[in-house]
Amino acid sequence: MSTAATPDADAACEDAGPAGPAVPADLADPAFWRLPAPDRAAAFADLRRLPAPARFGDDTAGRRPGRGFHALVRHADVVEASRTPAVFLSGPGVTTPEPAGWVRMLFGDSMVNLDDPRHAQLRRIVSRAFTPRLISRVEDDIRRVATDLVDRVERERPEDFVTSVAAELPFQVICNMMGIPEEPRRAILDQVNHASEHTGVARPLRARLRMPGRGLLALARMQRMVADLGRERRRRPADDLVTALVTADVDGRRLTGRELGAFFSLLLVAGVETTRNALAHGLHLLTVHPEQRALLLGDLDGRLGGAVDEIVRHATPIIQFRRTLAVDHRLGGPDGPLLRAGDKAVLYFGSANRDETVFTDPDAFDITRSPNPHLGFGGGGPHYCLGAHLARQEMKVLYRELFTRLPEVRSVGGPDLIPSSFDHRVRSLRFTF
Ligand code: HEM
Repeated sequence: MSTAATPDADAACEDAGPAGPAVPADLADPAFWRLPAPDRAAAFADLRRLPAPARFGDDTAGRRPGRGFHALVRHADVVEASRTPAVFLSGPGVTTPEPAGWVRMLFGDSMVNLDDPRHAQLRRIVSRAFTPRLISRVEDDIRRVATDLVDRVERERPEDFVTSVAAELPFQVICNMMGIPEEPRRAILDQVNHASEHTGVARPLRARLRMPGRGLLALARMQRMVADLGRERRRRPADDLVTALVTADVDGRRLTGRELGAFFSLLLVAGVETTRNALAHGLHLLTVHPEQRALLLGDLDGRLGGAVDEIVRHATPIIQFRRTLAVDHRLGGPDGPLLRAGDKAVLYFGSANRDETVFTDPDAFDITRSPNPHLGFGGGGPHYCLGAHLARQEMKVLYRELFTRLPEVRSVGGPDLIPSSFDHRVRSLRFTF
């Protein structure tokens, strides 16, 4: 049976609560993403009731044509677009604003921005490197990192959960997987923050002018370091992911230095920020929903898996990805709305995760929700999150360590959020135990 949270508790959580007044949504307007969460949720609920996906971002003056997009906000539409990759292409780019052309030219494409056959080929190589043997070794490593972090929390009593725990765990785990030496890790984390800090937000002019130089430098250093490491591992193989990637031979192919660099950047951005935000939202949700917390602590073994998936559904760390139509396509079948070849479609995972036709009481945080067919890791199809298993594992291990050793651990106040149309970013979250 499902045990839903109370509306009062929801009101204390940033991304939930009784729906505010419906607002006319303009999803292309950065101001929309600064609205209070209940207002955004109400706007998405209105959009889900429309007979066809709404369009946003069209430049009616015609100065910059081709910028508009269809907003896919229903669960079924996001699943259809995700699982029809021959129609909904990733190759033209999946992030908004689009990365500058020079980034793609200089550094090669990461797999999120590729279509078949190149995507399938790359994914086969990379998946080979996530073998059960490597992953089981990673699980021991996650435990070690989580134990060290909680030791440090007990010793040093830091105030911010994000910098002291949530960001550290996935970052250290990926660096350990890749065999990155200790020394450059701080610099890499700084560089990752610079490289990704403007995805999904309107860049202020100052940042627009500054970004290329700083971002270029950050990416270049990181790519060079990883390419060097790849060369070194080809000469002297070690028991790590980089070795597996540069020596895996699939259909006569292995990763080039350029592909290795692009993949590592993707892992850092896709695997660190997402998990860090999920961990922080999760601690807050389990603080403002005491009855859900009591359920979890009463049966950690039985409930952790459900809690982690409900956190990912409720918080939806990645809000959206974009696709581009390869051919004319009717959404939902022959009588559905017509999307034209060349049109852009944005898949709103966050809205799909609150679709009332799929989830009962979708705004409630309910760790017993079953089934929970959320789209927090994507809507299925070839681009489904490669790290979903790893992310779930990291979250389960960290929460187990935290709630077993510090059962009074709680967030203090709400998360300090960074408005973005792309991800549900937490800058900081105060906590106590
Ligand atoms: C809670 C944490 C995470 C969330 C919410 C998340 C979410 C997502 C989403 C929504 C996608 C796009 C799926 C699609 O377009 O169909 C994705 C793709 C991806 N994720 Fe994750 N992710 C998480 C953790 C991770 C981790 C830990 C890793 C690294 C090991 C990772 C690696 C990737 C990669 C490589 C892709 C691209 C796959 C492809 O294009 O074939 N993710 N993730």
